[in-house]
Amino acid sequence: MGTARVVFDRWEGRYAARMADVRSSAVRDLFGAATRSDVISLSGGMPEISRVPADVVARIAAAGVREDAREALQYGSSEGRPGLREVIVELMAEIGVRLKAEQIIVTAGAQQALDLLAKVFIDPGDIVITEGPTYLGALQAFSAYQPKVICIPMDAEGMRVDVLEEQLRELGPRGAKFIYTIPNFQNPAGVTLSAQRRRRLLELAREYDIPVIEDDPYGRLRFEGGHLKPLRALDDEVIYLGTFSKIFAPGLRLGWVTAPRPIMAKILLAKQAADLCGSAYAQVTAERYFTRTRWRKVLQDLVRTYSERRDAMVEALHEHLPPEVRFTRPEGGFFVWAELPAFIDTKSLLAEAVEHGVTYTPGDAFYPDGRGKNCMRLAFCYASPDDLREGIRRLAEVLEDRLELYRAFQMAGHFSEEVRSAS
Ligand SMILES: Cc1ncc(COP(=O)(O)O)c(C=O)c1O
Repeated sequence: MGTARVVFDRWEGRYAARMADVRSSAVRDLFGAATRSDVISLSGGMPEISRVPADVVARIAAAGVREDAREALQYGSSEGRPGLREVIVELMAEIGVRLKAEQIIVTAGAQQALDLLAKVFIDPGDIVITEGPTYLGALQAFSAYQPKVICIPMDAEGMRVDVLEEQLRELGPRGAKFIYTIPNFQNPAGVTLSAQRRRRLLELAREYDIPVIEDDPYGRLRFEGGHLKPLRALDDEVIYLGTFSKIFAPGLRLGWVTAPRPIMAKILLAKQAADLCGSAYAQVTAERYFTRTRWRKVLQDLVRTYSERRDAMVEALHEHLPPEVRFTRPEGGFFVWAELPAFIDTKSLLAEAVEHGVTYTPGDAFYPDGRGKNCMRLAFCYASPDDLREGIRRLAEVLEDRLELYRAFQMAGHFSEEVRSAS
């Protein structure tokens, strides 16, 4: 673990320049270690699909093929299956966004929508604005189109809109291709954009004439506090990405995008070039799941499960981690973000953590430029509460070794400071 194998590549020099900056996903790279039975994974954001009734899904999938073979096994429309788009209309209405089915394109997860939007908007050297840290899959999708990514820092209320404003002032009107935000239980930081900042972000985007992409995979996974209106409910020019991955199952690879009509036309062209149309079989299954099963009960159960896991992780962090470590307490979603003293490099610490039987995702994976080295993302979605507690205890052991060094170093600094002022 941790030693990258160097493979001779005889095609080197023939790849497109756009691939040069595309980094491998740190989470995918950790997959091997994360699935070892003696290692507790706090790294991947994998939903707890054991709560989804597999037998029910198997039954509706089989019935879908039997009763609807002409559609389930055939190419479908590039926009997506009408019945599933009606399901999405209802889901969106429940969070305050009124849409018609024709305003929706079904995608292969929100990830495909990110890729399509990058393809539609980004030329090499263009500026895009994201939160810092941000979703590494978005960075990966964007990087193939060679933008310059500007990261806006966050605090407990999400993106610092005052810093955004300064940045936009510097760039001027239309100075960036888009602003990408994950307002609810941000991946990786776990923070939520406050209602006031949502409004301010939209005002600024209007003032500087910059499209906003709202990525909302976790919005329905709220454990406490009131739901906040999505940006799309406040401004119908917002491009909104949704997904079935966290409210049903990621294995179906289904998500959606809605955007102003001209942008939708471009997305549709990009989608046709990418895959002609999404999987009709998966869409038939999802449509049946959301119209013929008690999916709300499953979702409630999932939210309760994640909420208990959040509690287990946060309690263990309070109990075991040294006071030098700061961490967020998310009101929903999958992730806690921890910040360690600046001298600790979480990437180089990872091999040691795996030796101790725990993994996390190093913070620099969530920045385009090497920042975040002293941070880590801790996922509470996948491990059981007992494993979460044990995982944090193991992590604390690894950190304690490093922090002792740090304290000794600080003491020495303090001591020499005293000597200097005494002399
Ligand atoms: C913020 C964010 N956007 C998009 C995705 C991609 O999700 P999907 O499975 O819908 O492609 C994820 C997955 O973890 C995510 O966290």
